Amino acid sequence: MEPHTTLVIGASRGIGKELVRQLSSIPSEHVIATIRDSSSPTTNLQDVQYLTLDLQNPQSILNAATKVPSIDTLIINGAIGDNERLVSTNTQRMEEYMSTNVLGPLRVVQAFLPALKARKTRKIILISSYCGSFSIQNAGLCGWGGPYAVSKAAANMLAVQLHRELRPEGFTVVPLHPGNVATDMGNIGGGGGTPVCEAVGNILRTIGGITLEESGGFLSYDGEVIPW
Ligand SMILES: NC(=O)c1ccc[n+]([C@@H]2O[C@H](COP(=O)([O-])OP(=O)(O)OC[C@H]3O[C@@H](n4cnc5c(N)ncnc54)[C@H](OP(=O)(O)O)[C@@H]3O)[C@@H](O)[C@H]2O)c1
Repeated sequence: MEPHTTLVIGASRGIGKELVRQLSSIPSEHVIATIRDSSSPTTNLQDVQYLTLDLQNPQSILNAATKVPSIDTLIINGAIGDNERLVSTNTQRMEEYMSTNVLGPLRVVQAFLPALKARKTRKIILISSYCGSFSIQNAGLCGWGGPYAVSKAAANMLAVQLHRELRPEGFTVVPLHPGNVATDMGNIGGGGGTPVCEAVGNILRTIGGITLEESGGFLSYDGEVIPW
């Protein structure tokens, strides 16, 4: 029997790197990981297949996809994020956000769709953020707004629309909030996040238990449903 195969996009550091580390410690699991370029910081783990992929570079995504014939689970983790304001941003920065956090995931799904269809599992997890929730933003419950929140709200809708389009073919598509995690991005706000090892343990437990019925919903790292 072929091993369960997970592809993690954006695995040089933070949550992505730890996802790869923990997944690769499972004997029945085959892990494929992408890093942005050869200068990205990462630890090459034995038995993990590393590919180069830049979410902003469509050709790099297509090139990576030619090397992956089949996957069960696709975890799109890579993103940019900072505590910025819309009134002081500019078009170039907004384009960077949208290209990395919204168009990037769409390009990845389109490119790896044949590999996902080659298996029956057909699970797509988009690591999002509760900053992309309208109700959480309106209640003032998220520290970050601005361009990051706009991009994550768009990423959430991307996940919902992919769910609607792919559900008839047996796909499960879920945007997932990883929690406040002590990574480079998570520490920008001053720290205090969950240690990455513990956070990723929770995330993987939730991803492993996600059912077809939960597709199209917005989940937190602990499996709780987050309001849109
Ligand atoms: N940490 C938190 O508290 C928190 C909270 C909510 C949501 N999230 C979400 O969780 C995910 C992971 O965040 P993190 O905390 O682990 O952040 P991080 O430590 O800043 O790591 C970001 C990852 O994304 C990759 N990346 C950035 N731009 C890329 C591009 N153009 N192409 C490919 N990869 C790219 C980075 O690669 P390089 O090393 O090459 O830059 C890195 O591997 C993100 O989607 C983030 O929005 C995090």
